[in-house]
Order: sequence, then C-alpha cells, then structure tokens
Amino acid sequence: MSILIKNGRVITAVDDYYADVFIDGEQIAQIGKNLNVQADEVIDATDRLVLPGGIDPHTHMDMPFGGTNSADDFESGTIAAAFGGTTTIVDFAIQTKGESTMKGLDVWHEKAAGRATIDYGFHMIITDMPDERLPEMRRLADEGITSYKLFMAYPGVLYVDDGTLYRTFRQAGENTTRISMHAENGIVIDEIIKAAVKDGKVAPRWHAHTRPTRMEAEGVHRAIAIAEVAKVPLYIVHLSCSDALEEVKRGRARGVDVIAETCPQYLFLDQSYYDKEGFEGAKWVMTPALREEWNQDALWQGLQFRDLETIATDHCPFCFKEQKELGLDSFTKIPNGAPGVENRMSLVYNGGVVKGRIDLNRFVELTSTAAAKAFGMFPKKGTIAVGSDADIVIFDPERKETIGVNNPCTHHMKVDYSAYEGFEVQGFTETVLSRGRVIIRKNSLETKGGGQFIKRACTGELLR
Ligand code: URP
Ligand code: ZN
Ligand code: ZN
Repeated sequence: MSILIKNGRVITAVDDYYADVFIDGEQIAQIGKNLNVQADEVIDATDRLVLPGGIDPHTHMDMPFGGTNSADDFESGTIAAAFGGTTTIVDFAIQTKGESTMKGLDVWHEKAAGRATIDYGFHMIITDMPDERLPEMRRLADEGITSYKLFMAYPGVLYVDDGTLYRTFRQAGENTTRISMHAENGIVIDEIIKAAVKDGKVAPRWHAHTRPTRMEAEGVHRAIAIAEVAKVPLYIVHLSCSDALEEVKRGRARGVDVIAETCPQYLFLDQSYYDKEGFEGAKWVMTPALREEWNQDALWQGLQFRDLETIATDHCPFCFKEQKELGLDSFTKIPNGAPGVENRMSLVYNGGVVKGRIDLNRFVELTSTAAAKAFGMFPKKGTIAVGSDADIVIFDPERKETIGVNNPCTHHMKVDYSAYEGFEVQGFTETVLSRGRVIIRKNSLETKGGGQFIKRACTGELLR
C-alpha cells in the first residue's frame, strides 16, 4: 500500500516547508515538491499541518492502582490517543515486589498485544532490586526496555528506599539505559497525611495541602544527586512546580545529565480545582497534586528555555463514579490519576502555539521528537524523514473544539468525565497514520488494532 500526502505544510522539530510526502508500506519513502509518483491513495493536506505522530512517553493503561484498575485498557486508550494525534505511547510494566521483572514484562505484553491501535513501548517500574536480580536489568534492555521508573512516593506500594535507588541507578548507568523518577518525599508526605487525617481533614482538597512543592523539590534534588554519583542519565517525570524545576536547573547547570517532563495538567489546571463543590475535586486527585496557578508561568518558561524536555500526559484515568468514589470518606483512598491522553496535542498547540509561547518546531519537539530521542526511538519515530516510520498526523490549525465528555470529537477515553471539561481549543487532529495505515480519517476511526511493541534502543551512551 502506498499513500501520497499532497500540499501539506510539513513541520518537524527543525523544519517548516510545503511538500508532498510519499509513503511506501510502513515508511516514508520520498519527500519533495510536486512529487511525480503513483500512489494507491492520495490525501490532500492543503491548509493542514503535516506533523510527526505525537509520542506520549507516560501513560498507564490497564494499571492496577489505588484498589482498582485504570479505566482505559490498551484498546480504548490507544484509540483515544490516536484520535488526539498520538501514534506512540510508552506505558509502564510493573514488577511485583519480590518477583522477576521479566515476569512483570510478560504480564504487560499480554495486556497490550493484539489490543493496541498505535505502537507502544514499556518502561519497567522497579519495586525492589536485590543484588542477585541486577542482571535482569541487562536482559530487560536486550528486550527493548531501556528505561526504568522508580518511586520515592507511595510508601508500602511502589516506594523504594535510597539504597535501592542507588543500586538500580548504577546498574542502569552501566547498561547505558535511563532512569525515570517519580520524585517526591513520600515518607515525609505520609507523616503530613497522617496528621491531616487525625485532624479530620479528609476532603479531596487535602490531597494538595499534604503534598508540599518543597517535598517534590527535595525528591528531585535527591534523585539528581544520586544519579550524578551513580553516573546514569535521569528523567524526572510529571514535574509540577517551580520549586522542583529550580532543582532541575541547578543540576543541569553543574553538568548532570538530567531532563524533565511536565504534563498539561500542570500547565493548564491549578489547585483551585480541589475547591469545587462536594466531592468534585476528586477528579483531579493525582500525584504530584495540582499546584498554585503561578507555577504555570515558571513551567512555560522552562519549556521555552529548554529546562523542560517533554510534555507527557501521565494518563491514568479513573471513573468518577465508583472509582474516584472509593475515596468518598477520605482523600487517601481516592485512586490517584486523571485522563488526558486524547487532549494533549490540542491543549499544547492551543496553549503553546496559538498563545504565542512556543513556535511550531518546539511544539513538535515537545510532543514527539524529544521523547523519541530520550527513549531510544529516534529517528524511527519522532520526525518526518525518508526512512522514518510513517506515523503522521494531519492537523487542522484553525479548527476549534470545546473539550468535554459529551463532545464526541474530543472524548473517546473510557472514563466518565473530562479533566479539561469546557476548555476551548484551536488546533485539532484530523487524520492519523500509524506506520502507513490510516487509523483515523477525518475524525473517524478507520482501522482498529495493528499497534506493535517497540523495542527501544539504549540512550545513555553519552555519559560513559
Ligand atoms: O496520580 C498519578 N500520577 N497516577 C499515576 C501513577 C504515577 O505516579 O505516575
Ligand atoms: Zn509517578
Ligand atoms: Zn504516571
């Protein structure tokens, strides 16, 4: 099958030009003005942007968490992602404490295989790593799992101590792989939570008040220091606030290989959402919590000045009914996480490009290219170039939509609310190709399934 995308404005992290893109099979075969080729199908992209498919390096499909399972599985979640212009996700496989990481990987392969519509990779969440298990990390890397997430938060669940961090960091560095870090001092936060609950402070808004930004900053500082000594490239996930960003800047200024991701929720939502009527605030109970609004300017500046590397969603949806409601009597029982995989590209385009905060190249870099580079998928993914996978989004830069659970154009996630209900956005995904297959055509699902596991390369060589 061959496809010719004609007359579009091709944008990559560095390019901006009008050209035709010819796709032969799964890859881009030619790019040029007025290409004289025979194609099985021609797609007219006049007045449209032709973008590399979005890459969301932080999603949780079908994840057991907070006494329930995230509401999107790999089928619904990847279809929703595709509608929103994302053609690759990197999700998280989880090691059960005391068991083999390889076993955890098998479980996640089972969850995704045959269900995903877009391509996917896995980071491995490591929950313990005694010396005798360290060789597993090499095996994981050989299987294409070249990044690992560790948690300083959630004591008793996913938390690991500093010794485990150091052992794992060292091994990851040896293997030229990357560490992703949930950086928050969960031990101190748990003490703050205990005191709040004792005082009867159990409404959703106490989720934010018990997780001070300083405790995120402390986690970031500690993770950077340990990574520096262990010589491993570090990626801070879901960075939410100015305090934490300052620590990233300090680390980078002294030459530590640390990059960081933020998420739309920290760029567009704020702590006041927890003060909504009744239990409503539970919809935004996520970790880190939403912050005071002024932090958003600091994060945008971090994106502009390249102290922040990527924008991921941390898509971890739980229905308001029955799932968030598990915490009706205490915020400590509300499953942590919120939906967003479908809305990221439009939110960032509108809030970034339309509002004049970033240009089109930076938009592509933040939503696609940088993640491909950080996680060993570039140039197969993350750009429009001859030989790259034909993961392509045809994007209407003028189309306006109002995001909402009842707008069939903006909500395919299997969750009963939208975190961005009522947000008006300009810039919308129209047609999406995944490895040369049209999966979304003019906002309708055309092809379901066919997503493949991506064996990612090691990306940490530079530090050795
Ligand atoms: O609240 C969140 N972020 N839930 C997902 C798990 C995590 O910490 O990323
Ligand atoms: Zn996390
Ligand atoms: Zn997460």
